[in-house]
Amino acid sequence: MIKSTIKISVLASVAAMVVASCGSADPKSPGKVYMPDMAYSRAWETYSESPIKTPEGYNMSARKPVEGTIPRGWVPEDQSIRTNQAFLMSYMAKNHFTHNPDKWQEEYDKAAASIKDPLAYTKENLDAGKALYATHCQVCHGEKGNGDGQLVVLPDGSDGPYTAVPPAYSKRLPEIKDGNIFYSVSYGKGMMGPYGNQLNVQDRWKVIHYIKSLAGIKGDASATAVVATDSATTAKK
Ligand code: HEC
Repeated sequence: MIKSTIKISVLASVAAMVVASCGSADPKSPGKVYMPDMAYSRAWETYSESPIKTPEGYNMSARKPVEGTIPRGWVPEDQSIRTNQAFLMSYMAKNHFTHNPDKWQEEYDKAAASIKDPLAYTKENLDAGKALYATHCQVCHGEKGNGDGQLVVLPDGSDGPYTAVPPAYSKRLPEIKDGNIFYSVSYGKGMMGPYGNQLNVQDRWKVIHYIKSLAGIKGDASATAVVATDSATTAKK
């Protein structure tokens, strides 16, 4: 008898809790709120009305993007952009390579055939490349590009903390095409990480000019012609 009374009272209180928790008139109301901060977000709902208006009177909580904003990877209609070599290179690299590690060799070969150096061989580009190299690459590749940076070889000549030894540029770069170098620098190779997110396309080419100069490779004739035209234009001004 006592047992069944306990049973009934437990059942009754559970039923009471269930009924109480659903009792609110508003079906969306969470009822008794234990942690209000979690139930009611302090942030504005994305497309709700905000009391703070822009000077133009716009009051949706999600503001319009700044004028001129474009989605990543989209090629604007503007012809000067559509024909801009460096931009197209970046567009192509973003959209035509999957960066799937299983397809690394296939894409590496494709890059060799399709990616060309769009940048003029100028002293400015080379100097900029040198500065970028010192910041991003020298720790491993070494000041002269011999693969003996301070992460690889310690000042006393013993092995540094980085176990992979980069190849000397003077040996490796003559064996591969510009597109290969661009691909490796953009997406990484073996133990070397990718630099596509740290360096924009132009900067990657500037670094590539610099490492080629370290390897003793000169810019090709067409690139030299661009340098000549550049200085001619500068001289005219
Ligand atoms: C953390 C060390 C490290 C840093 C930093 C680093 N590299 Fe490397 N790099 C390597 C290693 C290791 C290899 C050899 C990769 C392999 O062949 O497996 C390599 C290879 C290369 C190659 C040869 C690629 C090929 O296709 O054979 C190039 C070119 C290169 N690095 C350029 C750069 C440039 C440019 C930077 C700076 C933007 C840079 N590296 C930063 C470690 C590094």
